[in-house]
Amino acid sequence: MTANTPMTFDLKNVLNQYQGQAQALHEKYVNTVFAHVLDMIGFAHEYTEGKGCYLTTRDGRTIFDGLSGYGVFGMGRNHPTVIQAIEQALALDLPNLVQMDTFLLSGLLAERLIRIAPGNRLQHVFFTNSGTEAAEGAIKFARAATGRPRILFSQGAFHGLTTGALALNGDASFREGFGDLLPGTEAVDWTQLEALEYELKKKNVAAVVLEPIRGKGVYYPPDDRVYPTLQRLCRENGTLFIVDEIQSGLGRTGRWWACQHWDLEPDILLCAKALSGGLVPIGAILYSDAVYRGVFSRLDRCVVHSSTFGQNALAMVAGLAALHVLEEENLVERSARQGDRLLAGLRELQKRHELLHEIRGKGLMVGVEFGPPKSLRLKPAWTLLHTAQNGLFAQAVVMRLYQTHHILTQVAGHHQEVVKFLPPFIITDEEVDRLVSALDEVLQECSRFPGPVWSVGKQLAGAAVRQHLFGRESS
Ligand SMILES: Cc1ncc(COP(=O)(O)O)c(C=O)c1O
Repeated sequence: MTANTPMTFDLKNVLNQYQGQAQALHEKYVNTVFAHVLDMIGFAHEYTEGKGCYLTTRDGRTIFDGLSGYGVFGMGRNHPTVIQAIEQALALDLPNLVQMDTFLLSGLLAERLIRIAPGNRLQHVFFTNSGTEAAEGAIKFARAATGRPRILFSQGAFHGLTTGALALNGDASFREGFGDLLPGTEAVDWTQLEALEYELKKKNVAAVVLEPIRGKGVYYPPDDRVYPTLQRLCRENGTLFIVDEIQSGLGRTGRWWACQHWDLEPDILLCAKALSGGLVPIGAILYSDAVYRGVFSRLDRCVVHSSTFGQNALAMVAGLAALHVLEEENLVERSARQGDRLLAGLRELQKRHELLHEIRGKGLMVGVEFGPPKSLRLKPAWTLLHTAQNGLFAQAVVMRLYQTHHILTQVAGHHQEVVKFLPPFIITDEEVDRLVSALDEVLQECSRFPGPVWSVGKQLAGAAVRQHLFGRESS
C-alpha cells in the first residue's frame, strides 16, 4: 500500500475526489480520439446519475435518454427491483462460479428464457457475457451441428466486433484494417430470394444469420413475405435459421421478440443487452435440441464450448429480476403502445417537413431517415454536407436535439442520414410527445438557411473533410 492509499475503499469519496476528470482520464488512458469526437459534437459531459429515463450531468443538466445505453435499459436505468436483487445476492454470499456444479440460478434463468422464446424449437440456453460472444457461439454451434462451412448474413448487418462476429458485419468500415476474417462468411441481400435459394440448394450453408430489424439504420423488408420465405428455404435445405435479437429482443419492438412480427421460429436465437436490466454484462444463445446434440455430442465434449463468467451469479440474478420486471410491469405491451404513439407523432411531422423522408420501426426501435430537400433554398446546404460526408445532417440533428432539447440520441450507422430512437419502455405519453416536438423544432430550424442546424452541419463538414471522424458509433 502506498502512503496515499486510504485504509478503506469508499466509492463516494473516489467520485467526489475525481469529479470533473473523466474527459482528461479518457483522453489520456482510454480512447483519445473518441474523447475528442465527443468534445467536437458537444457531448463531452460527465454524468453523475442515471435513473429511469434520465441522466444528470455534473453541471446539473437533466438529459432524456433516447439511446438507453444502445438498448440495454428497456426498463429504465437502475431499476429498483434489479438493484435490490443484486444487493440481496451480494448479502447472501452465493456459491458463485463453482464451475464443477449445476448452478440453480442459471438453470432457472434458462427455464424462464425458454418459456418466453418464440416458436417451439428453442430448448437449450448457453450463457455468455456479451452480444458479440453470443454471435461467436452461434457460428460455432451452426458449424458443429451441420458439418457445413458457410454462413450467410445480411448486407449492412451488425452482430458484434470480435473477429467471428465481425466476419458477419455488413459494413466494410468496421472491418477495415483487421485483416482476413472467418472464411465461408458471405453478405447477401434477403430480398434476392432466388439468388439465395440457389446458394442454399448447394447444401453447404450451415446458417443464415438475420437481425429481424437491422440495428444499423432500422431496416426490415417492406414485404412481410420475405422473412417467412427465407425461413422456409432454410428448412428445405438443412440450413439453420439464426435470429439475432440482441438489440431487438425482450420487448424493444413491442413484442418479446422482433421475429414474432413475422411468426418466425428460429433454430438459434441470440439475446443480450436488456436481459440484465443493463446492470451486469450478459448474453444468451437459445438453441434447438438438434443443435445442442450436434455440439455437446459426447461425454468428452460436455464443455467443448464454455466461458468462465458465463453463468456468474450477479448476471443470473439480474436476468431473473429483469424478466420479472418486464412481465410484472407489462413493459412489452407498453413498448408497443408508446412505440405506436411515437411513430404516429413522427409520421405527422413528415407531412410538414420536406427533409423527413421516412419513418421506420416497430415498438420503441425507431429510425427517422432524412433525404434531400425539394426547395431550392435548402438544396445547396444539403449538397454541401453530402459532398463532405453522408450522415452529417443526421449528426447535426442529433447535436441540436442534445444541445437545445437535452435529448440523447444517435446516428443509426456509418454514413446514414438516419437518427435512431431507442428510449426506455417506461417512457410516458408526455415524454413521447416531447421527443416529437423537439424534432419538430429542430426541423423548423432547418427550414431557415442560414440557421443553427446548417451551421452545426458546416462545422462537421469541415471536420469531416479534414479527418473522417463521424458515424463511428459502434453498437
Ligand atoms: C444486433 C446486434 N448484435 C450484436 C451486438 C453486439 O453486442 P455487444 O456489443 O454486447 O457485443 C449488437 C450490439 O449493438 C447488436 O445490436
